[in-house]
Amino acid sequence: MGFNAIAIDGPAGAGKSTVAKMLSERIGYTYIDSGALFRAITLKVIKLGIDINDIERIIFHARNSDIDFSNNKIYLDGANVSEKIRDNIINTTVSYIAMIPEIRDIVVEIQRKIASNKNVVVDGRDIGTTVFPNAFIKFFLTASVEERALRRYNELTDKKKHTLEEIKKQIIERDFIDANREASPLRQAEDAILIDTTGKSIDEVVSEMLYYVFMKGEKN
Ligand code: DC
Repeated sequence: MGFNAIAIDGPAGAGKSTVAKMLSERIGYTYIDSGALFRAITLKVIKLGIDINDIERIIFHARNSDIDFSNNKIYLDGANVSEKIRDNIINTTVSYIAMIPEIRDIVVEIQRKIASNKNVVVDGRDIGTTVFPNAFIKFFLTASVEERALRRYNELTDKKKHTLEEIKKQIIERDFIDANREASPLRQAEDAILIDTTGKSIDEVVSEMLYYVFMKGEKN
């Protein structure tokens, strides 16, 4: 028998990473934050001062980077960059990096490698559609743009430098880029379960997901 993947997709700030982490702990699966993989590559690009239009250099450095996700921490060339990748400069740049097909291929490969020998809960934009199309169960999480902006604002490590209104504008722009890019755009898989998290607590969302996971497990 192969290993199971649970896919959780949706727009920025829908609550995916928090619930994905909790769900993974509840069922003993490994959590993969695919956005963190794109963020780590973006951090490298910014650190090296590479122009975001210099696609070839970006691909070259991404291919020659050591990116690993383990114990819910993200490592770039051996250093734990879990906090650094949450700076707002990454939020405003990462969508451009995630548009590059070769970069997406690198990130898909990392995820499939992790999932080759363990059960995983993976959150992102294209998990149910592209990365794990045969996932055991697929969720698509949404929430109102106001609530998503507030969540992202509260999560910023450099909060004092930004206003909530500014973050809301960035979210709308990022949603647009993520949903309209050519390579693996953000899209709900046909067989994904839609959960609107607006006004719901984290525990409520996790319980709802657990219900579906156990229902599905019973059937199989
Ligand atoms: O979920 P997040 O905000 O950490 O994701 C960061 C960016 O990476 C987001 O703008 C879209 C992109 N992304 C993607 O294109 N595909 C994924 N599977 C995960 C993230």
